[in-house]
Amino acid sequence: MNATITDREFSLFQQLVYQRAGISLSPAKKILLVGRLSKRLAHYGFDSFTDYYRLLTSGTQPEEVQQFVDLITTNETYFYREPLHFDFLRDKILRDWPRGAPFRIWSGACSSGEEPYTMAMVLAEHLSRSQWEVFASDISRTVLARAAAGLYPLERTEGIPPGFLRKYCLKGVRSQQGKLLVAPELRERVRFAHLNLTERIAGVGLFDVIFLRNVMIYFDADTKRKVVENMLPSLKPDGYFIVGHSESLTGLTDRLVPLRPTIYRKPA
Ligand SMILES: C[S@@+](CC[C@H](N)C(=O)[O-])C[C@H]1O[C@@H](n2cnc3c(N)ncnc32)[C@H](O)[C@@H]1O
Repeated sequence: MNATITDREFSLFQQLVYQRAGISLSPAKKILLVGRLSKRLAHYGFDSFTDYYRLLTSGTQPEEVQQFVDLITTNETYFYREPLHFDFLRDKILRDWPRGAPFRIWSGACSSGEEPYTMAMVLAEHLSRSQWEVFASDISRTVLARAAAGLYPLERTEGIPPGFLRKYCLKGVRSQQGKLLVAPELRERVRFAHLNLTERIAGVGLFDVIFLRNVMIYFDADTKRKVVENMLPSLKPDGYFIVGHSESLTGLTDRLVPLRPTIYRKPA
C-alpha cells in the first residue's frame, strides 16, 4: 500500500521538484507523485514522505536525488511526433542547405531518443554523412541510457515511415527479437548529454536548429523564460527554434521572430 502524503509534505516536494528541475507540480499531481515515489520509500523502509524528503535534502545522496528527478519527469515521446516539424526541416531548411556546409541540430529535451533519431533519419536522407550532427540532452539519466542504446520495442516504432525503417533500422534477432536497433551509422552521429536546461549551459557549441518540444508545458512562465534565455546563445543567427504544438514563446522572448505557430527564427 502507498504511504499517504500530507499537504505540508506535498508542498515541500513541490518546492524540491521546482528547485531541481524547474518543474511546477500542481496540486492535481499529488496522486501521481505518491505513485511514482512509493517504491523509493519502500526501498528505504520509510513510512513517511518526510523521511524521504530529509534523505533527499541531506546533501549526501546525489544519486538518490537524480533518481528522484528521473521519477518525477514525464518522458512520453515517439518517433515522428508532430511530423509537421520534420516536414519543415526537410522542405524549408534542408532543401536549400549549401552543399557540404556543416549542420548541427539540438534536441533539447530528448527523452528516450525518438526525437533525435527521427532528426537523424531526416538529415541522413538529405545531407552527406559527415556533414551533420545531432546533439540531444535531457535531465533524466534513465531516459538518456535508453536513448544511447537506440533499441526500441517494435510497437514503439510505428511512426517511422517504411522506407526509413528499411534503410535506418535493424530488426533484432534471437534475444533482441521484437526489437529494433537504430542503425550504427545514425547512432554515431547522435551525441547524448545530461543537461538541466534551467542551469547555465556551456560547451555545447552553436546550432542551426533547436527543438524544445513538450517540456515547457511542465514549467511556469519564469522557468520558461530562463530556459529559453539559457538556450538562445547557442542558436546561430538565422537559426530556427521549434517548440511543441501546445507551446508558444509569446511573451517569453523578443529575440526570436515567429515564422508560423511553434516555429521561430533568430534574426541575422
Ligand atoms: C514529454 S518529454 C518530451 C520529449 C520530446 N521532446 C518530444 O517532444 O517527444 C519531456 C522531457 O523533458 C525532460 N525535462 C524535464 N525537465 C527538464 C529540465 N529542467 N532540463 C532538461 N530536460 C528536462 C524530461 O526528462 C523529459 O524526458
